[in-house]
Formats: sequence, structure tokens, C-alpha cells
Amino acid sequence: MAVRLFEARQHVEFYQKYRFSPAENLQRVIFSYLEEKKLAPTRLAVDVGCGSGQSTRILAARFEEVVGTDISEAQIQAAKEAASFPNVSYRVCPAEELPFEDGSVDLVTAFAAAHWFDIPRFMKEVDRVLRPHGCMALSTYFPNFSVHYKDCSERLTEILTETQDLLFEYADEKVNRVIGEYKEVFDLSPFQDKRRFLETMGVGSKETQVEIWVPCVCVLGCKGP
Ligand SMILES: C[S@@+](CC[C@H](N)C(=O)[O-])C[C@H]1O[C@@H](n2cnc3c(N)ncnc32)[C@H](O)[C@@H]1O
Repeated sequence: MAVRLFEARQHVEFYQKYRFSPAENLQRVIFSYLEEKKLAPTRLAVDVGCGSGQSTRILAARFEEVVGTDISEAQIQAAKEAASFPNVSYRVCPAEELPFEDGSVDLVTAFAAAHWFDIPRFMKEVDRVLRPHGCMALSTYFPNFSVHYKDCSERLTEILTETQDLLFEYADEKVNRVIGEYKEVFDLSPFQDKRRFLETMGVGSKETQVEIWVPCVCVLGCKGP
């Protein structure tokens, strides 16, 4: 059964405000792989579990058409409202039932999302929609972020780790499974811990910028002839 945790309007607003696009080095890994695999033509890329579209838009310059899909209507609505590119569109659908013809897709991606899917059904669907030599890139970042701000980086990182340890006790089953497989991360900290961050940093504004160093993993695949 699908996990429906991403639907609330407030959640979508947090996504728009705080979610970051896939890291540059992760993008390099994916695009180098596509070059290595000589992915051409590059007509259609599908970003599954696209949320509010941060991950989808990075594909716009490299494909004639990019479609972001998500099970959440609220997320897709937010993606449609965000600034984007003319060749990017969005659709509401489950990852396990993609609305594309057999062999019609050049690239399937999922950024920080695949662990929520019914993986065997999703993989079957990827295999169905990908054309021969089409590629797949499923990535996520690990929870062991480090936070960098002036001379309190070490303490901030400790606070984040303590918070994550607390949160993981209440995590959805799929997250627990993912932690075991690709060590999934929570992207929202409880308000209390944000306050602790601010105290440690000696600042008052919740808008203070910190650097977050995020390790990632990416599963790449190319469909044989
Ligand atoms: C952590 S967010 C990642 C969003 C986006 N890819 C990003 O990197 O910002 C996970 C997304 O997967 C979507 N999702 C979860 N289960 C899904 C499913 N079975 N089919 C399609 N989307 C799903 C959620 O609605 C959510 O928007």
C-alpha cells in the first residue's frame, strides 16, 4: 500500500521552501553515466516521486521533454505553480502505474523517493516504459548530514544526529527499511531542535543560512537491447 505522508498543504510549503535540488556531484555522476551509455536520443525523461519539482527541473536542459510524476496532488500542484521550463510538465500517478507507452521513455529518475515505492512493481514498470538502452537513476542521500556554521559545526552536527536518532524511533516502516538499505534521511527537524541549532549558533533568526554536507548514493541502470 502506498505511504501518503506528503499531501498536507503545509508539508508542500515546507518542500517548496527548504528542499534542495540534487547535489551538483550527484548530478555529475548521473549525467556522466548517461554520456558513458551514449544515451541518445534524449526525447523523454520521467522523474518519479518528483514532489514539488526541484529534482525534475535539473533534467530540463538535457531532454526534449521532462515529466515529473507524483502520487500527491498537492505536490504536483506546487510543482506546477513553481517557476520552471516550457518542456517540463507534471502528472499525478503512482510510481507503480506510470502513464507511458511501452518502450517510450529514455530516462527514469527518482530522487529521494524510490524507497517509498513498492519496489518490485516499480522496477517492473521501469522495465516496461524504458526503451532499449534507456537508463534509470535512483538516488537518495544518507542521514549522516554534517551541518556547517562558523565554529559550531561539530555541535550542530551532533544535535542533528541526536534529533535523527530520536525521530527514527517513530519512522514509518518503509523508512526503517530504507535506513537499513540506503540509510534514508529525514529532511524535517522538529521545531525544538531548530531552536537548539539557533542557540548553538548564537543567532536569533530561523532564516540564518547554514551549509549542509550531504553524502548520497545512486543506483544506475541501463536497459539491454
Ligand atoms: C522525499 S520526496 C522527494 C521529492 C523530490 N524527488 C525531491 O527530491 O525533492 C518523496 C516523494 O515521493 C512521493 N511518493 C511516495 N510514494 C509514492 C508512490 N508510490 N508513487 C509516486 N510518488 C510517491 C511523495 O508524494 C513525495 O512527493
